[in-house]
Amino acid sequence: MTGAALKAAKGLIRDFGELEQLQVSKKGPADFVSKADHRAESVIRAELAKARPGYSMLLEETGTVEGSDTSNRWVVDPLDGTTNFLHGIPHFSISIGLERDGEPYAGVIYSPIADEMFVAERGTGAFVNGRRLRVSGRRRVDESLFATGVPFLGLPDHALALRQVGAVMAVSSGIRRYGSAALDLAWVAAGRYDGYWENGLNPWDIAAGIVLVREAGGFVTDLAGGKRMFTGGGILASNTALHPELIALVGSARTEPATAGA
Ligand code: 2AM
Ligand code: CA
Repeated sequence: MTGAALKAAKGLIRDFGELEQLQVSKKGPADFVSKADHRAESVIRAELAKARPGYSMLLEETGTVEGSDTSNRWVVDPLDGTTNFLHGIPHFSISIGLERDGEPYAGVIYSPIADEMFVAERGTGAFVNGRRLRVSGRRRVDESLFATGVPFLGLPDHALALRQVGAVMAVSSGIRRYGSAALDLAWVAAGRYDGYWENGLNPWDIAAGIVLVREAGGFVTDLAGGKRMFTGGGILASNTALHPELIALVGSARTEPATAGA
């Protein structure tokens, strides 16, 4: 998994460096970034197939690839934080998860520009560049820093996201919105963020990050505290002390406030 991520990262780093010259080209950088994304996915797919020929796959760009082994499945996002990449912001990642019998089993998230390789496997812990990770020890929301993602043009639930941000920013040390869901989860595992939530993500955004947070001693659930992270329930990750409070805070934004006089 790390080999596949490193190999794909080489291409992404080269393409990221070339973006500046491309801003002036006719088709513009979006087309170029989409090609970079697809190239990275091909590299990862080939490397993983070489290492474990029978495993099934779910890839962001290709979709489902059935293998002879259906109990093991790679879940791959070749470029998470595409909008950052497109804008020359060096915060993007490659995310490779391994599911075993439908459960997240191992995960690798690589941030090519920071050269940080986050890895975790069930039962063996979470690491960044070989150093053991632990979720933060903060227990008070007013001292905590949270991350989220907010929807953009074409996505639903803008009002909901604003209410969630409103509820959390009023009582915490702050909120960050950096634009790579995979890295948001890796940073919770690393104790940089005390918690993270987001609505409506896809399996490839979170498959690897879930293992990282759990192996770093944190909790990951859907927004209601359940298990529907892969089926539209959103995701919420934090340390064990803050997790119930963050669920309650974000959950308090679920319904629209009653109109005055109603
Ligand atoms: P991407 O860069 O692989 O597209 C930013 O909030 C996060 O949302 C990124 O991880 C981004 O992944 C993801 N994202 C992009 N498009 C999305 C969509 N249509 N629905 C949900 N998440 C999306
Ligand atoms: Ca993604």
